[in-house]
Amino acid sequence: MKILVTGGAGFIGSNFLYYLFAKYENLFVVNLDKLTYAGNLKNLSELEKKAGKNYVFIRGGIEEEKLVTEILHKYDIEYIINFAAESHVDRSIDNPYPFITTNVLGTQNLLECARKKGIKKFIHISTDEVYGSLGKEGKFTENTPLAPNSPYSASKASADLICRSYYKTYNFPVVITRCSNNYGPYQFPEKLIPLTFLKASKNEPIPVYGKGENIRDWIFVEDHCRGIDLALSKGKPGKVYNFGGQAEKTNLEVVKAILDFLGKPHTLIKFVQDRPGHDFRYAMDFSLASKELGFYPSLTFEQGLEKTLTWYTQNLSWIESILSGEYLEFMRKWYAKR
Ligand code: NAD
Ligand code: TYD
Repeated sequence: MKILVTGGAGFIGSNFLYYLFAKYENLFVVNLDKLTYAGNLKNLSELEKKAGKNYVFIRGGIEEEKLVTEILHKYDIEYIINFAAESHVDRSIDNPYPFITTNVLGTQNLLECARKKGIKKFIHISTDEVYGSLGKEGKFTENTPLAPNSPYSASKASADLICRSYYKTYNFPVVITRCSNNYGPYQFPEKLIPLTFLKASKNEPIPVYGKGENIRDWIFVEDHCRGIDLALSKGKPGKVYNFGGQAEKTNLEVVKAILDFLGKPHTLIKFVQDRPGHDFRYAMDFSLASKELGFYPSLTFEQGLEKTLTWYTQNLSWIESILSGEYLEFMRKWYAKR
């Protein structure tokens, strides 16, 4: 199998590369990653040793037509898995431009280069956020209308629609997967779980938006990786598959669970100004993926959180080392506004 993975130096991409190389032997992977603030080659140091000459890293953007075309032909790529994206809602509120360049234009470029080359399957990694927000009841299905509320989710929904058009117009073999909130090793400490861990371990206040009542469905990243692998082997072109963790929690429940794990007081919680356009609740109906792909999340939230926090505790140097000047400056400005 010759696979192009994009965004493989990020959180889910790097976990997926470890998953792939642990599972398959006859594998050759090119990892194309621009190495933005969120991409970190340190995530992959063990993988490079394990995969040897069956793995190639190339620094570049999915929006670069010449580079992508060269890669597809030089390595005779058969499959593409597109993780590359700007992925943080708060950053998209601050500056939507790179979200459109990468998530929309980049995805379209990747599709077009792949269509011209001809490949066996393109897996586009999307999110539950494209469906918008739920009230207290109900779940998103693959037929829920797209109603994104942030520049991030709007850019992901746009990319999903371009993928759909490539299937309908060109019969291009694209499969879209939409997953709920991931957590696990190597997640950049701007997202709720690693951010809370980092701040709590330094006894710093933990910013909880609004009243902390918003609900997310959390999935351990390895369960998501298994779903993507199933979509790669069994997913039907033109289809969308939802993945979820069956673990709905309020943000306050998540933050308190992390504080309890670390033996830190709940008084570290600091309620701050709410996120503009903050989606209230996400919940996934993934019965289609269960039926057609055999997908189920294997870990409960409590099991996954314990694994994750244990990993962060044992890898404090990782979390410290990726806090570059650019990230700290962004966070300083962000918190100053709240
Ligand atoms: P991440 O921000 O940790 O990693 C993104 C990676 O993409 C980084 O390595 C970055 O350097 C790379 N990248 C950014 N722009 C690029 C470009 N123009 N060309 C090539 N590489 C580029 O993100 P993540 O959390 O690992 O998310 C991966 C994918 O999964 C995204 O498409 C995201 O929308 C989707 N997703 C994430 C979650 C979640 O909870 N994290 C949930 C559902 C779906
Ligand atoms: P986040 O991890 O940014 O993921 P997403 O916005 O894609 O769901 O946020 C998860 C939830 O946690 C979301 O409801 C916003 C909230 N949140 C906070 O309350 N404080 C924070 O510092 C962050 C980063 C998020």
